[in-house]
Amino acid sequence: MKTIVETNNVKKIYGSKGNVFTALEDIDLTVQEGEFVGIMGPSGAGKSTLLNVLATIDEPTSGDISIDGTSIIKMNEDQLAAFRRDKLGFIFQDYNLLDTLTVKENIVLPLALAKMNVKELEQRVDVVADKFGIRPILEKYPYQISGGQKQRTAASRAIVAKPSLILADEPTGALDSKSATDLLESLKTLSEQDKATILMVTHDAYAASYCQRIIFINDGKLFTELAKGKETRKEYFNKVLDVLSALGGGANDVI
Ligand SMILES: Nc1ncnc2c1ncn2[C@@H]1O[C@H](COP(=O)(O)OP(=O)(O)OP(=O)(O)O)[C@@H](O)[C@H]1O
Ligand SMILES: [Mg+2]
Repeated sequence: MKTIVETNNVKKIYGSKGNVFTALEDIDLTVQEGEFVGIMGPSGAGKSTLLNVLATIDEPTSGDISIDGTSIIKMNEDQLAAFRRDKLGFIFQDYNLLDTLTVKENIVLPLALAKMNVKELEQRVDVVADKFGIRPILEKYPYQISGGQKQRTAASRAIVAKPSLILADEPTGALDSKSATDLLESLKTLSEQDKATILMVTHDAYAASYCQRIIFINDGKLFTELAKGKETRKEYFNKVLDVLSALGGGANDVI
């Protein structure tokens, strides 16, 4: 087993003297290759903060973070930019597609930036387009496709460079239930068949029920963890609801 994410005693404090806020504290987290892990917790718990420090977008105040065996703590801006490009894939709620590029161009952009040769580039696009069922729309522009198709395009772009870690913040937040299910099924398959490692922040117990493990955070601290065992997804979903109600969140806490 290969460890992809390891955090030790991570702390994040916002603000300065007199007006400080501890957004994360004592975060020890280990994620193995091929795991599809959910991050849940009430609004303001620190979920996005955690994702952002793992994404190297935000810097922890103290503690250590290793991704794919490399500590990201002492890297300078140039090293971090290269690290993000080579090792990380991102999926956001609002897609972040470039409107002036076709679906295919959006997907190949990270590879083109990494100066991959055209033949390999075409092959990679073929593979991801099939995984996310977007082959028929490759030549279309973002304004010509649905929200679900946009998110599947964004997911294709996130995985095309074969990142060590895929980070998703509320990827199903703007999708109807059918599109959300399609995306979640694809992410699950990606982790099971291709050993992709995925960390997904979600408010939605249904989305979380596709994960193999869910980490609950509350007030910036790890609250509990729930690993999926032999139970069905429906049974796992009900367990997630139980933890959320213990947290005071509730099933309909969609913010
Ligand atoms: N740049 C910042 N400066 C000061 N405080 C911040 C900053 N960013 C976040 N916070 C605070 O840190 C806490 C955690 O924020 P975070 O965005 O991680 O929550 P979250 O769990 O993602 O919430 P939500 O579910 O609403 O997205 C919140 O109380 C927030 O107000
Ligand atoms: Mg958030």
